[in-house]
Amino acid sequence: MKNRIIVGAQWGDEGKGKVVDLYSSQTDYIVRYQGGNNAGHTLVVGGKKTVLHLIPSGVLHPNKVCLIGNGVVLDPQVFFKEIESLQASGVFQGASPESRIHISERTHLILPYHRLLDQLREEKASQSASKIGTTGRGIGPAYEDKIARRGIQAIDLLFPNLLRKKLERALEEKNILFQHHFGKAPMQVEPLFQECLEMGKRLRPFIQDVRHILVQALEQKKKILFEGAQGTLLDIDHGSYPYVTSSSTVAGGALIGTGLGPSFPVDVIGIAKAYTTRVGAGPFPTEIEETDPQIAARIRQIGAEFGSTTGRARRVGWLDLVALRYAVEVNGLTGIALMKSDVMNDLPNVHVCTGYRVNGKTTHQMPLSLEELENAEPIYEVLPGWKGYDTQSVRKIEDLPRELLHYMKFIEGYLGVPIVLMSIGPGREETLEVNPKQM
Ligand code: IMP
Repeated sequence: MKNRIIVGAQWGDEGKGKVVDLYSSQTDYIVRYQGGNNAGHTLVVGGKKTVLHLIPSGVLHPNKVCLIGNGVVLDPQVFFKEIESLQASGVFQGASPESRIHISERTHLILPYHRLLDQLREEKASQSASKIGTTGRGIGPAYEDKIARRGIQAIDLLFPNLLRKKLERALEEKNILFQHHFGKAPMQVEPLFQECLEMGKRLRPFIQDVRHILVQALEQKKKILFEGAQGTLLDIDHGSYPYVTSSSTVAGGALIGTGLGPSFPVDVIGIAKAYTTRVGAGPFPTEIEETDPQIAARIRQIGAEFGSTTGRARRVGWLDLVALRYAVEVNGLTGIALMKSDVMNDLPNVHVCTGYRVNGKTTHQMPLSLEELENAEPIYEVLPGWKGYDTQSVRKIEDLPRELLHYMKFIEGYLGVPIVLMSIGPGREETLEVNPKQM
């Protein structure tokens, strides 16, 4: 077994939490390397649903060590809430949370002014139709501060004098915005400083040199699972900019967001749904909300396609192989986990996008400009559906309906990457690991 990087291969919400949970049993360390509590990883174990926004999904496995890397932005309030709720449901089984969860000293913090700024900007943007549709959790503003070199790192909470200076500096500019751009009251340094000191007291036992822990793990041939959040097409560099999140969601982010070099053996597994969804604004070539509203509504209802962080209805569309092949290239995927094919169980046929028409020309590549992507018309191949089969009760790949096996082969043929996992229902047990000989 190798180390594994798990990345979303679409626009997020592909089912990464379930795959991470599944692979966690075969690993020693689970590390999150980017994003923050804009993510929502839903896990169903023994019929019990758990939604995690920040703590790695591997936490539900006893004895696994969960790490939060330097590439993450961490909201301490959300972190403590998650710890409390996991404690209440007995996840730590008597162990202390800090013995199982470590936060990098370099992880940047999301503070109240980041959340406020995110929400005020989105409110203002909605009046001018330039809204990104962020999750409003302060993710973008926290990453902005990091890049602008005025962020607050976890370690800063432990050095009060420096912390106060940094907060003063951060608020100086923010307050100009709050007062003069948004017409709001300024934020005071003192109460924020006191709040941060309290956070520091609680966070101190969790703060560790996560990079070093991972280096040692590799030296000892321990296995690491890198848990990505969001998806390839939401990546700050490689996504449909500016309708993206503010972090490196692609596999390369796993290195930057933990401090490891690229020379250790690793598989890169891209998680993709058998169809596509997107939350928030931005181009989505295979969207069917207008062309096939009934199918879209049906998929949304059966697939429970509502955001686990914001509750927003997700936009629905057919599988887009052009976008997926882009994800194969950008991430260097070695395998695909195909999720939620069961949601399409009652469709007589399924559409798969194999190319776009852009400015009258056919292309099989992701268009370079936003405008071209917005105007890309999908070219579809129509394949027979697997209507009438109850795939959820299948436990062996070869027992899946012929039409679904054909759908899988079609996807593999186009992408040139094997499907290594098929998820056919929300539960842990409703997952089939694919042995290439079975296909
Ligand atoms: P932000 O990450 O809150 O700044 O939001 C930026 C964009 O990324 C918005 O379109 C969000 O809907 C989207 N986004 C952020 N996190 C997720 C996620 O976990 N799943 C799907 N979309 C997400």
